[in-house]
Amino acid sequence: MKPDLIAAAARAREKALAPYSRFKVGAALRMKDGTIYTGCNIENVSCGLSICAERVALWKALSEGALEFAEMAIVTDADVLTSPCGACRQLLWEYCGDIPIHLHSLKGKDEEHRMADLFPHPFDVRSLRT
Ligand code: THU
Repeated sequence: MKPDLIAAAARAREKALAPYSRFKVGAALRMKDGTIYTGCNIENVSCGLSICAERVALWKALSEGALEFAEMAIVTDADVLTSPCGACRQLLWEYCGDIPIHLHSLKGKDEEHRMADLFPHPFDVRSLRT
């Protein structure tokens, strides 16, 4: 449990634009230097153009030149803890590697997982070796 990172993700969640699913997600990515980048899910009527909170936080960090990732928190108010979707796992693995992912529900549940456990047998740069 990382109270400050979870609090940052919970604040980001309040900005979620989720009128279609009504499922609000907040994410917070801490860098090794302590800087925190946050994101919320942003939906679009086309649905396919919606983007997850995790990717918003990741794109914000990468677009600021931040590359040294330490950990992520993901906050929802769901009964079942929300873990990153498959697309986000692929991206988090590539850019963040085997970081801890803290899952928190505002209903009072917490879990911590490492990316290597969430995303076993990845397709990554090693897969391109011939
Ligand atoms: N969502 C996230 O932002 N992160 C997740 O880990 C799971 C799903 C969003 C996408 C969509 O806006 C809504 O939650 C319902 O799927």
